[in-house]
Amino acid sequence: MKLWLLILAVGAFTILLSCVAEKPEESPKITTTVQSPNEDSELALLMRFMYDDMYRVKSELEAGKRASLEHDPKEMFTAEPTDSAQVSTESYKAFGQAYIAAYNTFHQAEQANLKEHFEVLVHSCMTCHQTTCPGPMRRIQNLYFDN
Ligand code: HEC
Repeated sequence: MKLWLLILAVGAFTILLSCVAEKPEESPKITTTVQSPNEDSELALLMRFMYDDMYRVKSELEAGKRASLEHDPKEMFTAEPTDSAQVSTESYKAFGQAYIAAYNTFHQAEQANLKEHFEVLVHSCMTCHQTTCPGPMRRIQNLYFDN
């Protein structure tokens, strides 16, 4: 019985860490037969891909190129999260829809306005993170052009 409590406690702590702080390099490991609570969720992997995708496009825009994003933002609503409580709120839905709208606007924008629309997109990553998952905000900040 005590072992189960420990597993639960470590699991809850890890979920908290994934959003409150940057991921530590070495996450606590426990060896049990149950599925590891440290496994990255589908949503976390999607978000990392979104970050890399945005970073690539930022560099291309800085070089004066026309670039398009490869991630599918609708997957934010289907990918399995670390903690379902984070994505079942009305604000997650609203911010997710706002992000998708900004994503579509970016792809329809004229070359001259691409950078401006890109910053709107970064801002809508931030807005959702402020309420649902503040940990990665410092990292997302890197996506603004003056950083
Ligand atoms: C609608 C809300 C929402 C939007 C919009 C959003 N995120 Fe997230 N993001 C989350 C949530 C919730 C998590 C936690 C996922 C989990 O742990 O399963 C997360 C996690 C992350 C992580 C951490 C992943 C990890 O390694 O654990 C990064 C980095 C990230 N988001 C970057 C971004 C970037 C960049 C954008 C915009 C291109 C963005 N997010 C847009 C809600 C959002």
